[in-house]
Amino acid sequence: MEIIIQPDATSASQLAARLVAKVIKEKPHAVLGFATGRTPLKLYQNLIILCQEGNLDFSGVTTFTLDEYVGISNDHPASFHAYMWNNLFHHINLPKERINMVNGQAKDIVSYCRQYETAIKTAGGIDLQILGIGRNGHIGFNEPSSSLASRTRIKTLTDDTRLDLAADFGGLENVPNHVITMGLGTIMESKMILLLAFGKNKANAIARAIEGPVTAMVPASILQMHPRAVFILDPEAASELSLASYYKWVYANKPDWQKY
Ligand code: GLP
Repeated sequence: MEIIIQPDATSASQLAARLVAKVIKEKPHAVLGFATGRTPLKLYQNLIILCQEGNLDFSGVTTFTLDEYVGISNDHPASFHAYMWNNLFHHINLPKERINMVNGQAKDIVSYCRQYETAIKTAGGIDLQILGIGRNGHIGFNEPSSSLASRTRIKTLTDDTRLDLAADFGGLENVPNHVITMGLGTIMESKMILLLAFGKNKANAIARAIEGPVTAMVPASILQMHPRAVFILDPEAASELSLASYYKWVYANKPDWQKY
């Protein structure tokens, strides 16, 4: 694992954008997995600027998104469809036909999830998967107790996660109970993982994910088994890491050719 602690969320997001840009420049037909939530917003803003200034070309890129609410229409403002279009896809030169997003309105969810997995494989697998993290350690919507080998499937949200989402839906009673999410096994097949976390309320989940035991109770801890997982954190999210000063020293002393 590579743990990079930046002075703040702004510089962390700029670094993350450089990493994403590097992947696309090295492989113009890269397959990228995108996450939603507040955390990656600044990263997406940086990618938009790079693209609009002519320094990043998404024309060959294929994308998959991690998850979606079941039963929510694509134009619902809290849907991940709306989020991705509003915060990224409308503003970059990514061809519509190469955008793949989970359809929360699929009729036959089981066969739809199988098709989504097949589409990822047919595209050649995900080169870089961007992730945030829930306060309970979830990635995508793989809540605690998710199988560490799980595939794309329907999941039920925990009360904690529904509470965190209440503002997006104008009240807890409107938050869906069910979602479709890529599984932990699906995420682990990505060639590289970039997890972003900012703020004190992520510190415990980050410490358990990076330095705790690998356990289904902290789904992000499975990333300890990934050969190329990069965590980019601000100081608050890193504040419960016991080896924080070691991670900082390692990054500060990296050879230039290894930096993003
Ligand atoms: C949701 C999403 C996750 C995201 C998490 C954290 O649960 N399914 O992909 O990482 O929220 O969101 P935020 O970045 O807003 O804290």
